[in-house]
Amino acid sequence: MAIVERVFSGVQPTGNLHLGNYLGAIVNFVKLQETHNCIYCVVDMHAITQGADVWGGPAELARNTREVAAAFIAAGVDPKKHIVFNQSQVSGHAELTWIFNCVARVGWLSRMTQFKEKAGKDRENASVGLYDYPVLMAADILLYRATHVPVGEDQKQHLELARDIAQKFNNDFGDSIRGQGFNEGLFFPQPEPLITGPATRVMSLRDGTKKMSKSDSSDNSRINLTDDADTIAQKIRKAKTDPEPLPSEEKGLETRPEADNLVGIYAALSGRSKQQVLSEFGGGQFSSFKNALVELCVEKLSPIASEMKRLVADPGHVDAILVDGAERANAIAAETMKSTKDIVGFIRSR
Ligand code: TYM
Repeated sequence: MAIVERVFSGVQPTGNLHLGNYLGAIVNFVKLQETHNCIYCVVDMHAITQGADVWGGPAELARNTREVAAAFIAAGVDPKKHIVFNQSQVSGHAELTWIFNCVARVGWLSRMTQFKEKAGKDRENASVGLYDYPVLMAADILLYRATHVPVGEDQKQHLELARDIAQKFNNDFGDSIRGQGFNEGLFFPQPEPLITGPATRVMSLRDGTKKMSKSDSSDNSRINLTDDADTIAQKIRKAKTDPEPLPSEEKGLETRPEADNLVGIYAALSGRSKQQVLSEFGGGQFSSFKNALVELCVEKLSPIASEMKRLVADPGHVDAILVDGAERANAIAAETMKSTKDIVGFIRSR
């Protein structure tokens, strides 16, 4: 079983899917379909790692799972040519996590900044699942022996951990891996993060030093993929800026986080570089730039919002897509699990 190039990525169904998720991840999901076999997963098992106050309880979880799947499809992911499914339908994710739990070191997980942020001061009260979250993420990727993982900047550290786990597994079980016929002792690939484009870290519209986030208590801090045109316009007009006109050179954005963020969003949505955007708008006032940004956002996001609405109105249809995707994902996952069990020495039926 040689390693073939394969793309895997996931999005949590925790509500409020926003422009950061779209530009940092989903846009790249769509592009990669042209060159790779892609697997896109709604990671419902990750969603329950925080309290029900965060994920909303069972009915909300199911609704949000369908909504993320709908967002993938509305943005242009093709669930027939590629795979779209929800994580909990493929048991290999949990099985491989257990094996990886015994490979990963407590010290590695203790360094994860996202855990520290999410657990806050009351770390003793965080779930074990929240601590183990990056190991499940490594299992997600490596269950398909995926080689490329499109994500936003905030997932970089988790990807490094996935690479460390793959390497340690390959080392720890090197002899057994060779014994199973994998010549170079290389069973799991080193998954490469793909963090590309001018908006790999979209910031809050209220504070250019904070990441745009699903959990920000201010809805004005983000543009949700389900926002209508009026809401988008209002949020962009209210977005924090500074009193200076826009610079003409990218260097001029360095100390101006809010300006940098809005220019980055414009660049990403229009498929241009920040410099190209500044060549057009540099020297002008924010008000006219904001008008152009509203127009562009509405033009790009409205069709996605209406297609999402249409899809979530037919839950049976979305569920059928997820079940079909899960069956195809499981066929790949089962092969990996068979070999992994043989490598570890677990007896299984033939
Ligand atoms: P999640 O659900 O928080 O976010 C989904 C994707 O959106 C990106 N993202 C952003 N990009 C730019 N600017 C932002 N402000 C912004 N906020 C979020 C994230 O980087 C991510 O790519 N742990 C992952 C889900 C996951 C996963 C995986 C990803 C689980 N298993 C395996 C890749 C591979 C997460 O919480 O993403």
